[in-house]
Amino acid sequence: MKADKILKNFSQIFCPSDIGHPLRGEEMSDAKVIENGYIAIKDGKILEIGSGEPNAELLDSTTEVIDYTGKMATPGLIDCHTHLVYGGSRENEFSKKLNGVSYLDILAAGGGILSTVNSTRDASFDTLYDKTSKLVDDMIIHGVTTVEAKSGYGLNWETEKKQLEVIKKIDEEHDMDLVSTFMAAHAVPPEYKERPDEFIDMIINEMLPKVKEEHLSEFCDIFCETGVFTSEQSKRLLQAAKDQGFKLRIHADEIDSIGGVDVAAELGSVSAEHLMVITDEGIGKLSKAHVIGNLLPGTTFSLMQDTYAPAKKMIEHGMAITLTTDSNPGSCPTSNLQFIMQLGTFMMKLTPIQVLNAVTINAAYSVCRNESIGSFDEGKNADITVFDCKNIDYPFYFFATNLVSEVYKNGNLVVQ
Ligand code: NIG
Ligand code: FE
Repeated sequence: MKADKILKNFSQIFCPSDIGHPLRGEEMSDAKVIENGYIAIKDGKILEIGSGEPNAELLDSTTEVIDYTGKMATPGLIDCHTHLVYGGSRENEFSKKLNGVSYLDILAAGGGILSTVNSTRDASFDTLYDKTSKLVDDMIIHGVTTVEAKSGYGLNWETEKKQLEVIKKIDEEHDMDLVSTFMAAHAVPPEYKERPDEFIDMIINEMLPKVKEEHLSEFCDIFCETGVFTSEQSKRLLQAAKDQGFKLRIHADEIDSIGGVDVAAELGSVSAEHLMVITDEGIGKLSKAHVIGNLLPGTTFSLMQDTYAPAKKMIEHGMAITLTTDSNPGSCPTSNLQFIMQLGTFMMKLTPIQVLNAVTINAAYSVCRNESIGSFDEGKNADITVFDCKNIDYPFYFFATNLVSEVYKNGNLVVQ
């Protein structure tokens, strides 16, 4: 078959394996790295990858051939956990953090997530759309081609819906693909202060059916944490969401270990998020239940802590992990997944191959898009991130700058 486009002469191409499930344990340490490689594209899909000169059968007079001598390619990066849609910003919390005031104390005093809830309720659809589009522009420039985005700064139907509709519209109009998660259970809103169970009931009975009916999200998430939602409340919400046909995620073991991991394992959640303070027993449970650990080292960094999720231990115990920004206005204001990948090596001591597997094939499984993205298997979308460097180690060695020079989405050059 003839290719529409051939990108050739890459110094290296990182080719994660799609073995039918996320890479677990030691599987995360393997990947094919093609030297002097080419990628052939047909109708926006991967046709073939290989080494050396592409076979003449792939080419005719209409095939566009682009030379990438001196550059390195990976499948389009996937950022599988973000809170992208919000009003305002929270730099006012910075000095509090520097002075040792904790994240949960700021929240308990009505700040943190709740201050972003106020700004998001106040923001118009257009304001949120423009602000989120800018973040998405910046993410794609940094090599991300698919991003998960959660609601959760409305905590009432009007604003949750507004956030989810922003996600939907950007998904339709932007080169980036967005995967939506409904997370009204992100904090207890002032209207339900001291009545969290009633808030959970309201989400179950009123919001979830509307999200489903209006096709606004495929995942449901909850913040299971001291002072936010208990493991019982999390289980009740997620069981109801599962019954209504949602796939599940849960923010668990971020600050305190209060049972969210058990809920994830018991209900067959696709992923459990954060896991900074997970116990050995918890790792065993997630590993056995095949729950993906979505790890967010930028949050530890930004909260000025030193408790990074025990990523190496999780891999040793057979878990599948991803690395993701958690991009949000409070605990991790960034749109640079490359920096998060570097924290994966610098702070979590993962290898470049483990990190690259985490943000490609495993992240594809985490957003349940593994059939179409995350690797260079024939027929998958031609989402390709090109780095201006010769090998897969360089983006970990040369840190905190943008090394991505081109991005292809469905075979089209969208960043150069
Ligand atoms: O994943 N931990 C809870 N939610 C977000 C932070 C949201 C915020 O602080 O605005 C997180 O870190
Ligand atoms: Fe989060």
